[in-house]
Amino acid sequence: MLFEGLDLVSALATLAACLVSVTLLLAVSQQLWQLRWAATRDKSCKLPIPKGSMGFPLIGETGHWLLQVFSKIFSHEALESYLPKIQLVIQDTLRAWSSHPEAINVYQEAQKLTFRMAIRVLLGFSIPEEDLGHLFEVYQQFVENVFSLPVDLPFSGYRRGIQARQILQKGLEKAIREKLQCTQGKDYSDALDLLIESSKEHGKEMTMQELKDGTLELIFAAYATTASASTSLIMQLLKHPTVLEKLRDELRAHGILHSGGCPCEGTLRLDTLSGLRYLDCVIKEVMRLFTPISGGYRTVLQTFELDGFQIPKGWSVMYSIRDTHDTAPVFKDVNVFDPDRFSQARSEDKDGRFHYLPFGGGVRTCLGKHLAKLFLKVLAVELASTSRFELATRTFPRITLVPVLHPVDGLSVKFFGLDSNQNKILPETEAMLSATV
Ligand code: HEM
Repeated sequence: MLFEGLDLVSALATLAACLVSVTLLLAVSQQLWQLRWAATRDKSCKLPIPKGSMGFPLIGETGHWLLQVFSKIFSHEALESYLPKIQLVIQDTLRAWSSHPEAINVYQEAQKLTFRMAIRVLLGFSIPEEDLGHLFEVYQQFVENVFSLPVDLPFSGYRRGIQARQILQKGLEKAIREKLQCTQGKDYSDALDLLIESSKEHGKEMTMQELKDGTLELIFAAYATTASASTSLIMQLLKHPTVLEKLRDELRAHGILHSGGCPCEGTLRLDTLSGLRYLDCVIKEVMRLFTPISGGYRTVLQTFELDGFQIPKGWSVMYSIRDTHDTAPVFKDVNVFDPDRFSQARSEDKDGRFHYLPFGGGVRTCLGKHLAKLFLKVLAVELASTSRFELATRTFPRITLVPVLHPVDGLSVKFFGLDSNQNKILPETEAMLSATV
């Protein structure tokens, strides 16, 4: 386990399972809730609501040394060193998508991409491509069965999940052992290196089991959320060609659009990315309207009152990210995809600390948020500068929210490469180009 009192995998699994039940329960209890709400607001109704302490005393103790380690893993310096590797992984992937003769399932491919990023960049494993593919399949089997009932029967989801976890742990152990033996020739420290070093510094050398659990949790945290956001990003760029053009204009103005034969591999820098204001607005807007995770859970540490309701100590409460984004008064036309709402001129997110929460809030805010944003920015830059893509279905798919937000059909898209004039590279041209090399 990475965190005291928190197993992220089971926490997320519980979250998803609860979300399904909560959705069903909500449908039934909505009428009752509205009645109770109306009664509480009605001045003539004297419901006994004693005054409690105010504020948000929901968040637990987080003084764990691992939190300090995580601040190193996701520090500015660390992100700068991951950036060229992230760019390479994304460029490789987009090349593969573009050379695929058929449309691809974006959500599935984005899951593979984030898995690859976690394995290659975050954990620094040099697993051969074929083994990586196999590990991904096992990982998917694990994730698909995380939400199963704990009934250990042959062919049950639970049994399949346990088996997948065992195979994964074996694969991870092999990769960790190889990594521990072969420390030479590396030009950067990945998250796993930092985790191992820092645990030694804190006099708490991690056992192999802790390392395996830790790596699995890191992959789990990064995988579904970032794949969901990547898919939403691609879908919004498809839906809003003007946004994509504006993004390309910004990249052009900063000399980033790839041109005539420039390999441009691993050339992005953090300060270049932070200078791209419109890109930042686009990513923020994707995360506002298509927040991958619906909400989070807390245990009430101290009785408090919220909007006339007393919330007693010891209760489990859920805060909803999606509802917050939908109802926050700071956002004008909440349902409209409008990246400019985050522009310096409008800055709709600047009023109030808790209106915009794609990565949660408070002490338990997402630890990987800077990495996630970095990944999404690089993906957007590469999509805008090296790819053209078209929806392969007649209409855009419906969105489902469980276990994380994603299009029901995964989003079918045909990708094409771009030549130096930002035009589509047709398969024949591609064949010619490779023939001349
Ligand atoms: C777009 C991508 C992502 C989104 C939307 C996201 C969102 C969230 C949210 C909402 C939480 C829960 C906060 C709460 O309980 O209130 C969380 C927790 C967490 N996330 Fe992320 N996340 C993303 C990517 C990542 C990545 C890439 C990593 C690391 C590799 C990561 C690591 C974590 C960890 C370790 C926690 C637990 C923090 C704690 O309990 O102290 N996340 N994330």
